Amino acid sequence: MRRTRIPSRHFLGLAFLFATAFLLLLSVFLWRLSPQAPFLVFALAGGVGLYGTVIERRWVQVSRHAIMLPELPLSVDELRIVHLSDIHWDRYTNPGRVLGILNRVSAMKPDIVLLTGDFLSQFQRYAEPCTLALGVLRARLGVYAVLGNHDHWAGAGRMTEALGQQGIRVLNNEHVLLDGAIWLCGVDDPHLGFADLDAALGGLDEDPRPRILMAHSPDVVATAAGRVDVLLAGHTHGGQICLPFVGPLIHSTRLQAGVHHCSGLTRAGRTVCITNRGLGTVLLPIRFNCRPEIGVLTIRRGV
Ligand SMILES: [Fe+2]
Repeated sequence: MRRTRIPSRHFLGLAFLFATAFLLLLSVFLWRLSPQAPFLVFALAGGVGLYGTVIERRWVQVSRHAIMLPELPLSVDELRIVHLSDIHWDRYTNPGRVLGILNRVSAMKPDIVLLTGDFLSQFQRYAEPCTLALGVLRARLGVYAVLGNHDHWAGAGRMTEALGQQGIRVLNNEHVLLDGAIWLCGVDDPHLGFADLDAALGGLDEDPRPRILMAHSPDVVATAAGRVDVLLAGHTHGGQICLPFVGPLIHSTRLQAGVHHCSGLTRAGRTVCITNRGLGTVLLPIRFNCRPEIGVLTIRRGV
């Protein structure tokens, strides 16, 4: 397993610094227009910050998508997938809250649970508490995972081992056949350039059975489009902060059409791409106009 080091940047401090500097500059500018304006700006910023940190960051949304696949074998009437991503277990994580979400997922009685990486943010000491919580997940055909860039920075080997101890298989540029009917493929993190799509799809291009690809980042859509039926990804957090009329400030992909694939269901040729907004946060423990997400995908036979 390849190891990389997390960039030695103090994200949180820098983010606060930039936000404060921006608000101060804005206040000075507005003060010239009206002496009361800076107070209104700070009150608005404080209110939005409080809402994003205390309410929206914990306000999980269940997003449901349904697609038809003509190639689905007759033996499978319907396949229900629950897709989770980007837990980012760190000092801000409330273990009880995550456990509640995971128990809620198991209660949905999914056929498969797919986890698209960034279980950790920075420290591998959280690998055990995170995977112990993930151990409550139950699905008829199993729970599968791929790793994200933060898992590599924190320690991919320990994370893979800890997931395995809970019966969660990491698909590291490989594939498995589910129910004799559907290929589930997984690539290592595309964001860090570790994805080997040819290895993950090795020998399957001519196979008539449907292919589902898991990848941490939607970056892989550039090469996977047309070669898989469904791509499930995370990484973007949906932008985490989405300003009205502006949209996501950051999508963290290397795609030219990164904003297009930042969240939700999109298409690239015949490939359906679903990018999950994730459950956790990075940089700042805040979400705005971008709720954490449990993705539920139902696949049925048909056109
Ligand atoms: Fe990521």
